[in-house]
Amino acid sequence: MAQGVEGGATRPPPFNGSASHTNVANNAKTNPSFNRWQKIAQQRKSLPIASVERRLVQEVRNNDTLIIVGETGSGKTTQIPQFLFNAGFCRDGKIVGVTQPRRVAAVTVAKRVAEESGVELGQRVGYSIRFDDMTSSSTRIKYMTDGLLLREALLDPYLSRYSVLIVDEAHERTVHTDVLLGLLKDVQNKRSASAYGCPNTENKQLNDGVLLDKGQGVWSGAMKQCQSRRFSTLKLIIMSASLDARVFSDYFGGARAVHVQGRQFPVDILYTLHPQPDYLDATLITIFQIHLEEGPGDVLVFLTGQEEIESVERLIQERLRQLPESNRNMWTVSIFSSQPSEKQMRVFAPTPPGFRKVILATNIAETSVTIPGIKYVVDPGFVKARSYDAAKGMESLIVIPTSKAQALQRSGRAGREGPGKCFRLYPESEFEKLEDSTKPEIKRCNLSNVVLQLMALGVDDVIGFDFIEKPPRAAVVKSLEQLFLLGALTEDCKLSDPLGHQMARFPLDPIYSKALIQASQFNCLEEMLITVAMLSVESIFYAPREKLEEARTAMKCFSSAEGDHITLINVFRAADEFSEKRKSGQSKEKDDKVLKKWCKENFINSRSLRHARDIHRQIQGHVEQMGLHIASCKDDIVQFRRCLAASFFLNAALKQPEGSYRALASGQVVQIHPSSVLFRTKPECIIFNELVQTNHKYIRNITRIDYLWLAELAPQYYSMQR
Ligand code: CDP
Ligand code: MG
Repeated sequence: MAQGVEGGATRPPPFNGSASHTNVANNAKTNPSFNRWQKIAQQRKSLPIASVERRLVQEVRNNDTLIIVGETGSGKTTQIPQFLFNAGFCRDGKIVGVTQPRRVAAVTVAKRVAEESGVELGQRVGYSIRFDDMTSSSTRIKYMTDGLLLREALLDPYLSRYSVLIVDEAHERTVHTDVLLGLLKDVQNKRSASAYGCPNTENKQLNDGVLLDKGQGVWSGAMKQCQSRRFSTLKLIIMSASLDARVFSDYFGGARAVHVQGRQFPVDILYTLHPQPDYLDATLITIFQIHLEEGPGDVLVFLTGQEEIESVERLIQERLRQLPESNRNMWTVSIFSSQPSEKQMRVFAPTPPGFRKVILATNIAETSVTIPGIKYVVDPGFVKARSYDAAKGMESLIVIPTSKAQALQRSGRAGREGPGKCFRLYPESEFEKLEDSTKPEIKRCNLSNVVLQLMALGVDDVIGFDFIEKPPRAAVVKSLEQLFLLGALTEDCKLSDPLGHQMARFPLDPIYSKALIQASQFNCLEEMLITVAMLSVESIFYAPREKLEEARTAMKCFSSAEGDHITLINVFRAADEFSEKRKSGQSKEKDDKVLKKWCKENFINSRSLRHARDIHRQIQGHVEQMGLHIASCKDDIVQFRRCLAASFFLNAALKQPEGSYRALASGQVVQIHPSSVLFRTKPECIIFNELVQTNHKYIRNITRIDYLWLAELAPQYYSMQR
């Protein structure tokens, strides 16, 4: 194996006297970190991908674009970047970048790879996701979200720091992945075109030359030139879990695709006899059935989101308390995207002896994150997905049945280390009715963000952009229209200056970026920063079924008759005030603990609040950098409500005689969600931030406004309308 020029060989984490063999032997007995490292090294060696390292590296050398398909858990995400590092692809300070559709995967995988490489996270191995950057100038293997790389391209259009870019989980076909593929294809062409030519023979030598140590060979002048050129070619690797290599290969002009063989044990699939009216209840029953009747092995349960996960977690705890002591040996952990990363890492912790780990996960655990030890999978068959109605310009999150491909991926998780069982909580006849595969997100989401980003990258003709699969024309047109209404585009469809450019610089939805910029003019940016941060996290309040009344009373302390936005600001400020008063000056952990207790007493979700505070800090940084005027409107609530109306005018709704609402832009009939503080008061005219579609179309995060403000503050829209 070729050694990396930057000392790529993996080594155990530093511990006392690791230099000599005797010390290593001594340490093996006494140092748990050495034992853990040894175990990890063994695990790595046994991964299917380990035996094809040389061949894979050679394939990357020989092909500028390579598609790698491999079963989930075969080691693609964690190992391939390390292979490339060891093979010298990070020479001259270049970076191997790996994009992930999900934040959780970027973080957990970077942590794992740093551990495997025996380096501190943020040094050689790091990650960068929105609002959280764990990289440094020495980072050579960088995991990031695909959205983040798109933003990087705004600052560095050639992505010149990267020698290799790996687009991972491409089969997920998130909207960012699709846009990224188009962008990378273009960057790769541009980088190849900009490189000055070397005769083919020299190229060949240079390709092999990656293996040469610096001292080897006598480099002629021409070769030196070519040496610097070699890294100007961008190597692209597209990785995917399922067998749809053909679409990617075709898109990249017949690029080579290789398949990494995985290992899969048989999985017994069990269906229910009848459809389940309450799938959460069925989930609980199944978890306990496994726990009490099946042999040892951990359980992975697929749920649709944080709220569902937290409520199942609580119900499990309740039922466990009713079981005899000897049966309470169940340990629940959860993983979902908006969770703080320390919490996410808990799912990888070894199950305590004699216990059964039950992992409650969103579809993150389908392919992006592989958790060892799973023998049982519980699959209720649902997933939360974005859905977009271009005609109405409305995006919503809806819970829909999974596709067949997703159901298969989920069951496959039970058979990675031995034979397993998958409990599908629906009858077999339902499986046959499922769609074969999930529709790419680009076909079912609001494209305003993507269009704004593409335009900021200089793509003026978004409809003509080389997408792997074109988004619906109506959706592109609708987002152009929305961006125009927000002031980001000029009448001739160019990015406006400065507003459009400013908006593109925020790592936020255009509507929120605009709200922040607008708020600086309304002298209430302080309030809007809190609002945007609080709206960026899932449910701040939680109301367990058994303590509903208590929770409602607690919420009243914060609630504002004006609506949810001000209520959220009240919570944020109350938490700040409390933290300030109770600051111990001792340790951050202690302060966190005290705040957590306060959250619990007030029925506030401490994870969400912490996340919101973190986001707040970061967007405040952006706002300061942009030189926006941060001020508070203090008690002038009308001023803030006017600013909300001016920002979210596209989401205004009017009360109907029977108490439902009509969204003005789309004409849709919607209901106020019971969790809103305005659920009972039902004001005449409101703006809202979220549409959730269950059996009803619910709107959430609502504030009361004056109908007349709309024409005054958004004349570009409302004077045209009426
Ligand atoms: O990308 P792919 O699905 O092919 O596999 P991977 O994510 O590279 O995972 C390879 C192995 O690393 C699996 O056996 C995981 O169980 C293990 N792993 C882990 O133990 N902890 C992590 N945070 C990530 C991976
Ligand atoms: Mg992977």
